Amino acid sequence: MKARETEREILKNLQESFVKYYGGTEGARLFFAPGRVNLIGEHTDYNGGHVFPCALTIGTYAMARKRADDRILFYSVNAGGDAPVSYGLEDLEPAGKSGWTMYPLGVVWAFAGRGMRLSSGFEMAIAGNIPAGSGLSSSASLEVLTGFVLKSLYGFDVDGITLAQIGQYSENHYNGMQCGIMDQFASAMGKKDHAIFLDTADLSYTYAPVVLEHKKLVITNSCVKHQLTDSGYNDRRRSCEQAVEALNKVTSIRALGELTPERFEEIRDAIPDEDTRRKAKHAVYENARTIRAVEALKQGDIEAFGRLMNESHVSLRDDYDVSCPEVDILAEEAWNLPGVLGARITGGGFGGCTVAIVEEEHVAGYCERLGTVYKEKTGLEAAFYIVEIGDGPREITPDQSMLP
Ligand code: GLA
Repeated sequence: MKARETEREILKNLQESFVKYYGGTEGARLFFAPGRVNLIGEHTDYNGGHVFPCALTIGTYAMARKRADDRILFYSVNAGGDAPVSYGLEDLEPAGKSGWTMYPLGVVWAFAGRGMRLSSGFEMAIAGNIPAGSGLSSSASLEVLTGFVLKSLYGFDVDGITLAQIGQYSENHYNGMQCGIMDQFASAMGKKDHAIFLDTADLSYTYAPVVLEHKKLVITNSCVKHQLTDSGYNDRRRSCEQAVEALNKVTSIRALGELTPERFEEIRDAIPDEDTRRKAKHAVYENARTIRAVEALKQGDIEAFGRLMNESHVSLRDDYDVSCPEVDILAEEAWNLPGVLGARITGGGFGGCTVAIVEEEHVAGYCERLGTVYKEKTGLEAAFYIVEIGDGPREITPDQSMLP
């Protein structure tokens, strides 16, 4: 995906919609917040474990300005429709609301909950280039984007970590998705050419350079999104909580991320139910794998990093049960293709994408052969994105040629 080429196109569409629905662009400002891909450390972020995501150069764009009255207006170029969705500043509670505007409105609501109330309404148009339902965090990027817009328009003093926390809080409490903080953190704190090694137990983090000499990060979209994504996710979270509760009969922990695999093996039988035990095993082993993977990357051992990505997929497939046949085909076939160092499902699961590290000279062959096998086995077309690691949110200064 050529982010820079699509950016002009997106900004043009954004501006056209803004003019059409809000009348002129005077005083309007442009913003961007990225999507993310997680390299390793899946379903560890609500278990007090480590994650290793990076922000992408694709994401969500907004054009926005304050209004004189108390209305909040949202329009999405991607969702379309013939009018913006409108709310009143006094009507922020989630009851009776639905649809994509729950994401930005939830952020306005969460800002208000922290005492950052808006003095007037605002109008915003958004457009993005994250493929819908791909698991590359279009919702987190919209949350972080909205927070960044509010901070910029109203002068609120909020740093990147707080923006991430507000995004997660609104998703948990406004949208009913019990997500961890990884996606919002990656979007809010992204750094070009670096992945973020985040310890979700205390939000300490370091940036690790992702030096992939002559290799590319290739995301393959299965283009399937299975039903029950949110409830399956929330169920997994509950299983991990049950495991912690059971383990506390023999030890004292707050989260599975506190256990090494060795310690887990010693006390695992305290979890009576086999299914819950497997889920807990994934959380513990994946955390350890993530720490090892980052160590390998620091040593320049991309081969070891790739092997750990493959192990992560197997664990998510067999122990955590969040893969699906389509995504398994993409990962497993990739392992046998030339030039592939590692491939795994990325994100929450139940469909979505794989992420692979592929030798540059083999990228074209990878896309062609994997696309063909996937089509043969599923009847579906996979989509491929060769992605770059980008920065966190920013304001965009449009060049004059773009202004109407
Ligand atoms: C989703 C959630 C994240 C994280 C991943 C799984 O993307 O939003 O918080 O739990 O799933 O690693």
